[in-house]
Amino acid sequence: MSVAQLVRLSHEQIKPKIGSRVLNTKDELLSGALSGAINELLEARGVLVFEQLNLTDEEQVRFSNSLGGNATEIGVDGGAVFSISLDAKEHSREVIEYLKGSLFWHIDGTMNPVPVRGSILTSKVLPTWGGNTEFANCYAAYDDLPADTRAEIDDLRVIHAMWVSQLYHCPEPTLEQLEDWQSKGSAELPLVWHHKSGRKSLVLGNTAQHVVGKTAEESARILHGLREHATKEPYHYAHEWEVGDSVMWDNTGTLHRAMPYDPDCGRLLRRTILLGEEYFS
Ligand code: OGA
Ligand code: MN
Repeated sequence: MSVAQLVRLSHEQIKPKIGSRVLNTKDELLSGALSGAINELLEARGVLVFEQLNLTDEEQVRFSNSLGGNATEIGVDGGAVFSISLDAKEHSREVIEYLKGSLFWHIDGTMNPVPVRGSILTSKVLPTWGGNTEFANCYAAYDDLPADTRAEIDDLRVIHAMWVSQLYHCPEPTLEQLEDWQSKGSAELPLVWHHKSGRKSLVLGNTAQHVVGKTAEESARILHGLREHATKEPYHYAHEWEVGDSVMWDNTGTLHRAMPYDPDCGRLLRRTILLGEEYFS
């Protein structure tokens, strides 16, 4: 029997309803022998933490590809590895402004009919203050709703738009700025994602504008009420970074956000994406 066949995924729960810490060595993780088990654990736990794995860019791409491959997100021409940073040395002003949208709860790629399945971030430079990445398990949050609430929301549809997310951090744009954001499109998505697996999760976040067929007031109560529910205990995990940590999340069943940090501190995370394979439905 080869060494690879003997390797088992070694992990421990971080919290009952979200997050597991993976304990295997880098060699074991990069061998490819654990790919199926990692993907299963990711879907089950929402967030996987690999402390002090110290992946290089090249290793991170190999790891991502072994799990199902890389993609580039609509509107962000990042290549295989993308810098998550507000540093002017890393990005144009336009990209930096766009990235500020990540300071509020969101799902990546809601303008895309097949959003990315997940992402991996590796810390390279720590923030001087703040800058944790927070996650919320939207499968567990849905499952725990009262049955009558689940029945009420099960078939609702929600309009999502990139421009709506940008108003969170830039509430008074110029008309030109607003029209540029609006040119990135919008999408009508289910409020409850009925996954192929049979599981269901909430589709929320800062791109959610309004619930189709509801008044503005009712719609806001639904979207903000569910976001409040999904992002509190026991569905919430905050990762406090150390350089060399990697964190992977299931973008189809979680929300995430960056906590505020000094925009001039050089905080740098390197991100790879796992190719999406499931339509919002
Ligand atoms: C992302 C993201 C959050 C962070 O990479 O998609 O939202 O903490 N990152 O920088
Ligand atoms: Mn994001």
